[in-house]
Amino acid sequence: MVTYVDAATVPRRNNGEIKLYGPDGFEGMRRAGRLVALCLDAVNEIVRPGLPTQAIDDFVYGFAMDHGATPATLGYRGYTKSTCTSINHVVCHGIPGDKPLRDGDILNIDVTLIVDGWHGDSSRMYAVGEVKRAAERLMEVTYEAMMRGIAEIRPGHHTGDIGYAIQNYAEGERCSVVRDFCGHGVGRLFHDAPNILHYGSRGDGVMLKPGMIFTVEPMINLGRPQVKILGDGWTAVTRDRSLSAQFEHSVGVTETGFEIFTRSPGGLEHPLRRGA
Ligand code: MF3
Ligand code: CO
Ligand code: CO
Repeated sequence: MVTYVDAATVPRRNNGEIKLYGPDGFEGMRRAGRLVALCLDAVNEIVRPGLPTQAIDDFVYGFAMDHGATPATLGYRGYTKSTCTSINHVVCHGIPGDKPLRDGDILNIDVTLIVDGWHGDSSRMYAVGEVKRAAERLMEVTYEAMMRGIAEIRPGHHTGDIGYAIQNYAEGERCSVVRDFCGHGVGRLFHDAPNILHYGSRGDGVMLKPGMIFTVEPMINLGRPQVKILGDGWTAVTRDRSLSAQFEHSVGVTETGFEIFTRSPGGLEHPLRRGA
């Protein structure tokens, strides 16, 4: 059974209830979302062949400190970094380290910044130097899949409509949808109800209501959907080692549709449409 509660009156834990946020919540998410989007814009300036992913993590940590924000992943369930950096066949939760980026890599950078208690959660793909046509296509398909999922968001639609739109489009492009990770409620909490599956059928799941806030963050593979977790306990990779891509926005349900809190102020959220 799903219940709905006023976000202002409930304890700050995930007890399965779906919170409905008012104007203050939306304003808080606008500020957190804008900052994480500015951070992901700024990261564009440093991504290049030869850069260790730890340098990206250091940059994001510094950006957060400079703007009075806290990276939500620091200390989260034992995670010790400010970002996840997921390269090529890494699906998600890649741990920044000393290995340098190489020409032709595609890379997801996922950042969650806490601003005045609100969590802005977003990720984008980055191309390192010249990338292959197949990698470009995967990034295009994944971005389009996310945006088609978001376009389903309006009161009266269901979470399954989001998943259906993503899966139907991605599989039509001969790609596959990762099942092992999903989007999530976000706001005062990093990970909250409801789960947002990136696959499914129209009408499945919970009905969307104005005031809900959650992420849409599909992981799409060029090959098969299966993943495995490496020995570090975090890094998820495709079992068939095919390329994987992901984009993520934090979104609110409005009276008439949706509001994306993490849009790029610089128009930089799409890796192949970034100004020279
Ligand atoms: N930001 C990720 C998400 O989109 C979660 C990362 S949790 C971590 O939900 F611990 F791996 F960083
Ligand atoms: Co997320
Ligand atoms: Co994220």
